[in-house]
Amino acid sequence: MQHAGEIYEPLKNRVLGMIFEKSSTRTRVSFEAGMAQLGGSAIFLSPRDTQLGRGEPVEDSARVLSRMLDVIMVRTFDHAMLERFAEYSAVPVINALTDDYHPCQLLADVQTYVEHRGSIQGKTVAWIGDGNNMCHSYIKAAIQFDFKLRIATPKGFEPNPNIVAEAGERIRLFETPAEAVQGANLVATDVWASMGQEDEQEERIKQFSAFQVSSALLDQAADDVVFMHCLPAHRGEEVSHDVMDDPRSVVWDEAENRLHAQKALLEFLLCQEEED
Ligand code: CP
Ligand code: NVA
Repeated sequence: MQHAGEIYEPLKNRVLGMIFEKSSTRTRVSFEAGMAQLGGSAIFLSPRDTQLGRGEPVEDSARVLSRMLDVIMVRTFDHAMLERFAEYSAVPVINALTDDYHPCQLLADVQTYVEHRGSIQGKTVAWIGDGNNMCHSYIKAAIQFDFKLRIATPKGFEPNPNIVAEAGERIRLFETPAEAVQGANLVATDVWASMGQEDEQEERIKQFSAFQVSSALLDQAADDVVFMHCLPAHRGEEVSHDVMDDPRSVVWDEAENRLHAQKALLEFLLCQEEED
């Protein structure tokens, strides 16, 4: 619609606050461009420049910012900080990634699956690699969208057992990628060391070496398999050099869909009251 030159501005004069305590390319640009395209604007707030970064309490920051802004997104380390911020905010707060979850990425991933293959309900998804924030959000998505999830991680890097338990029978844990991709319609992976785990990078490369997703691994999945990665990708580590450009890879559509999915989320959060 945007590229066809159509103007659609349901968020005219609305302002999104964007708190980033970790780096970002896709999340920042998709939220900022999305707000501009919908007629609103966005303010990038780095802890280097705000009083939040100098120790102003989260509760006070949330109360003040939400008196000025219409919606706020937060990318931070501790998930409890995000929850505290949301508790004290008078406007909607969006999780733009914590150590525990990355739900905006799952909106884009599910949209991408549906665009390429139709409904994801009842399908089989394989998660290969770290039992990290993305893995946890895949577990939540398996419950929400009703798909089966087969997870392969090295020993000691399994997802949080409490989150796994929430999904019940839908989840199965495996010790090898080859087992996990059996029958998979979607294979997804992520970096071996997430933001905040830079010190563990070298050790993790050793522990995860058998967990690389390659075109040969995709050959063992279902015939209609698609491959996703939230990006940024480390070629030669969690992905082989060939798999990103494999015909079964949909990673560039997946990245673009961050923009479309989040525009829909912003419109949903900000325009619903008007419709009610
Ligand atoms: N996938 C993702 O969230 O990317 P960024 O860290 O670049 O925002
Ligand atoms: N698991 C990664 C996702 C980056 C989008 C991280 O938290 O760094």
